[in-house]
Amino acid sequence: MQPHAPVVDIDALSDHIEQALASPATTHGLARALRALAKEVTLYRHHRAGERANPDGRTDHKPRRVQIGGGGHRITGFHNIDIVPPADLLWDVREGIPLHDDSVETLFSEHFLEHIDYPRSAKHYAREAHRVLAPGGRIITGVPDAAYVLNHYPAPPEQAAEMIERWYSKRDCLGDINTYLDLINYVFRDQDDDPTYTPHLWAYDHEKLVSLFTEAGFTSVEPWPFDPTMANPKRRWASVYVVARKPGA
Ligand SMILES: C[S@@+](CC[C@H](N)C(=O)[O-])C[C@H]1O[C@@H](n2cnc3c(N)ncnc32)[C@H](O)[C@@H]1O
Repeated sequence: MQPHAPVVDIDALSDHIEQALASPATTHGLARALRALAKEVTLYRHHRAGERANPDGRTDHKPRRVQIGGGGHRITGFHNIDIVPPADLLWDVREGIPLHDDSVETLFSEHFLEHIDYPRSAKHYAREAHRVLAPGGRIITGVPDAAYVLNHYPAPPEQAAEMIERWYSKRDCLGDINTYLDLINYVFRDQDDDPTYTPHLWAYDHEKLVSLFTEAGFTSVEPWPFDPTMANPKRRWASVYVVARKPGA
């Protein structure tokens, strides 16, 4: 799988975006679209760097335990694949998982899946996970639990206050959260206009995770008992985790 030559001059595109964003003639709507494009250009560059290091689209070694989209949360003994540094391997997982067939024992991710588009990339990711896992291997997936916020609507002020405290107290958007419905909105489109991170593109609950992984060929998709030695402790609250198994040999 050789990397393709770029179809556009990425450096020139970047310059055009920068110029347009600096211009007072650029309208708010166009600026939003350009910021999203600038973000994708950065991700594209990271992915190309990963492709240059792994021109066959597969890593040379075969990590048994892999985290996808770990960001700053590293797990001892896990190989971290992320589209943004720092990562053991820079790779845009929307393009596939750069690992060999039947090679992985545990694949872990949390608060990653909701950042890729559904159905194309989420279903592709689930199929790729099935391909790289060894027979009997497991994929553990945690996401913000959309059912949690929806089931609590309409919520008493103390409920909203707890969520604000736990999830948004250190965020720039804090001043814009006025009602519980704002919190529901953030589960569905968080970081929509963030310069670094891709936004939430799809919301999940237990049923949707089961459906996604079952369709990809996994069996026994079950709730995962939260293990803080692996998972990020701050994700425990109002997240939903499942563990899905690839049928054994
Ligand atoms: C909200 S952060 C979660 C970080 C960490 N898992 C945690 O729970 O603290 C989402 C992570 O997914 C990564 N990510 C998003 N889209 C990705 C993609 N297409 N390929 C690989 N990683 C991606 C981001 O770079 C980021 O590190």
